[in-house]
Amino acid sequence: MKIAITGALGQVGAALQHSLSDHTLFLLDLPEFDITQPNSAQQLAGMKPDVVIHTAAMTNVDGCAKNPALAYHVNGFGAQNVALACLRSGAAMVYISTNEVFDGAADAPYHEYAPTHPINPYAQSKLAGEKIVAQLLQKLYIARISWAFAKGGNNFPAKIIRAADKNGQLNVVTDEISSPTYAPDLADALKKLIVTGHYGVYHLINEGICSRYEFAAEILKQSGRGDIPVQPITSDAFQRASAPPLYAPLQNNLAAALGIKLRPWQEALAEYFRVTSYE
Ligand SMILES: NC(=O)c1ccc[n+]([C@@H]2O[C@H](COP(=O)([O-])OP(=O)(O)OC[C@H]3O[C@@H](n4cnc5c(N)ncnc54)[C@H](OP(=O)(O)O)[C@@H]3O)[C@@H](O)[C@H]2O)c1
Repeated sequence: MKIAITGALGQVGAALQHSLSDHTLFLLDLPEFDITQPNSAQQLAGMKPDVVIHTAAMTNVDGCAKNPALAYHVNGFGAQNVALACLRSGAAMVYISTNEVFDGAADAPYHEYAPTHPINPYAQSKLAGEKIVAQLLQKLYIARISWAFAKGGNNFPAKIIRAADKNGQLNVVTDEISSPTYAPDLADALKKLIVTGHYGVYHLINEGICSRYEFAAEILKQSGRGDIPVQPITSDAFQRASAPPLYAPLQNNLAAALGIKLRPWQEALAEYFRVTSYE
């Protein structure tokens, strides 16, 4: 298949490049390919891809909170341009979305049909993207993920290790809860999903849920830093520009019904440490 990947240099894009290396890939990213340029639709359609996996986005959640108009421009209008390219070329689209489309007020993990209610500009712009691509396309997979991590990314495990090594102790919130997603596992799952033709909304996260505090404790344990003290705090003591939904783990029902399930997050984290070297 001919597969185009937007945001190919990002954390998820890099994992997709690796998993899909047996296909013909078009690797698209800034500065040569900018989804906010209206001609990007023409540019992409001209490649005649069979599938477009759209990972490109403004992912800096605090940056989105400070500049919501830019968030909508990249995550809404940019997604629209990519969807128009798919419409013109007949390609199927995979839109990578987020657990933050939910408000975090639930008391059980969110299933694929749960009502969305984003509470911050990043999530509002990502939901705008979900809506516009769904209006334009029938051949569409929406894959929601959460707390992505992979070798080389500026992700939660990397930040925890940096902070632990710098400060010798950590404060981590106990009341933000979700499902980590190891990008290489996500990429393998998408590789299976895109050949099914089973279009729809999917939750592709590693199995299991945890708080940021539990995730941090496991990161320190698995990286040989289990002696570093971690102070539990609540999110009201940790102010940031973008308020995340507090309880927003995802439940994978629909991909699981197709036989597509990601391993438990602790096993994925062990794999991350096998391939990522920290001194
Ligand atoms: N990371 C997470 O924890 C997480 C959680 C839930 C959902 N998601 C979603 O998963 C997807 C992939 O995330 P990720 O972690 O791989 O993000 P990432 O590492 O930030 O990668 C995004 C890529 O898109 C590029 N990009 C940004 N604006 C663009 C534009 N106008 N035109 C073309 N490319 C552009 C970025 O380039 P620059 O670096 O030059 O800006 C970057 O290479 C995103 O859609 C995100 O919303 C991520």
